[in-house]
Amino acid sequence: MLERLPELGRVLDALGDPRGLHVVGGTVRDLLLGNPGTDLDLVREGPVEDLAGELADRLGGRAVLHGRFGTAVVTYDNDKHLDLIQARRETYPEPAALPVVEPGTIHDDLARRDFTVNALAIPLPDGEVLDPLDGRADLGQQTIRILHEGSFLDDPTRIFRAIRYESRLGFRMDPDTERLAREAIEAGLVRRLSGPRVREELVALLGEPEAATSILRMAELRLDQAVDPPLRAGLNAVQRLKRLGELAAEYEVDAPPWRLALETLVEPGQRVEALALTKRDQQLVEGAPGDARKLVEGELGGAELADLAGRHAPDAPLLALAIQDDPALRDWFERLRHVRLDVTGDDLAGLGLPEGPRVGEILGELRRRKLNGELDGREAELDAARGLIADA
Ligand code: CTP
Repeated sequence: MLERLPELGRVLDALGDPRGLHVVGGTVRDLLLGNPGTDLDLVREGPVEDLAGELADRLGGRAVLHGRFGTAVVTYDNDKHLDLIQARRETYPEPAALPVVEPGTIHDDLARRDFTVNALAIPLPDGEVLDPLDGRADLGQQTIRILHEGSFLDDPTRIFRAIRYESRLGFRMDPDTERLAREAIEAGLVRRLSGPRVREELVALLGEPEAATSILRMAELRLDQAVDPPLRAGLNAVQRLKRLGELAAEYEVDAPPWRLALETLVEPGQRVEALALTKRDQQLVEGAPGDARKLVEGELGGAELADLAGRHAPDAPLLALAIQDDPALRDWFERLRHVRLDVTGDDLAGLGLPEGPRVGEILGELRRRKLNGELDGREAELDAARGLIADA
């Protein structure tokens, strides 16, 4: 079966003797499902640092070690990578905290995982599937099942992951898993996660093609309200998300799908600093919902509309269009957003205007008039500039 992993042959050659290594986790799950394999995750009992270095050398790549947890990432051919992990046992000192890690066996390593369908391994070079937790049965029944009652308490990010796999694979949590997810949410466990961990999960969840299904599931389980900041998932968000996807393609808008999806879940005026986004992402996620509402409600002239649309562009005007189709907003995407003055500060100097704040003011006024359709072409702009300079 492993021959279906396109990269494995080369990695096996580079390894020389691959015994003691196992292909694990999502790679095995996807192989058994017949889905195209994604990343290659390899586990061995024992340290991985030296092996990672050798493997990187032979693949002409490089190894980055994360010593504390006995993991290494080997990157090669620019865009390919594989994870090498030392088999480990994990214990959680308290709910939602990071685990304490110690070396373990391959069986410990499978037992520390999130769901049965991910607790699978295949020994290299190519052996029988190790399946101590009946993951294959759950694959057959399209079921997402945690490995023990305390799994979501240990690691509430698994609730996001469960939803992500449900949506991506068309699976469903078994009744006990779903009940325990609801209980963990109800008990406020999600709020104990650090902002960056929640952000990572939201970015992963909302960045997948089936994000709409996940949003409905978040609402059903009330996971949306359990996050800091509270989100509002539901049919409204899903409708907007669908429109956003279409509009983003139509106008070739350069915005990551997860961010647009998040903006359908954030209420106008909601601060999202808890998520520790980059500054620009935070500004857009906080600004776009409110500005979109103003864009939808306002009867705005060209210049006003361009100012408001531009503040949190392209997200705010796209979100506004997704809420309500509007010719003025379409005009912004098709025309106004590309409008540039044909004159510059140098032209104003050539007309005798000395350097100073007036230059910016006059350029601003020219731009306003141009956006309102009052100026057509360089000559008209120069004429208007002469008038404004004379009025000064
Ligand atoms: N894992 C886990 N608990 C987590 C995160 C990860 O048990 N909170 C385990 C799972 O067994 C998973 C593996 O670590 O299979 C690798 O994690 P990741 O790369 O996130 O998962 P994949 O299954 O490879 O998922 P994807 O297909 O989304 O890459």
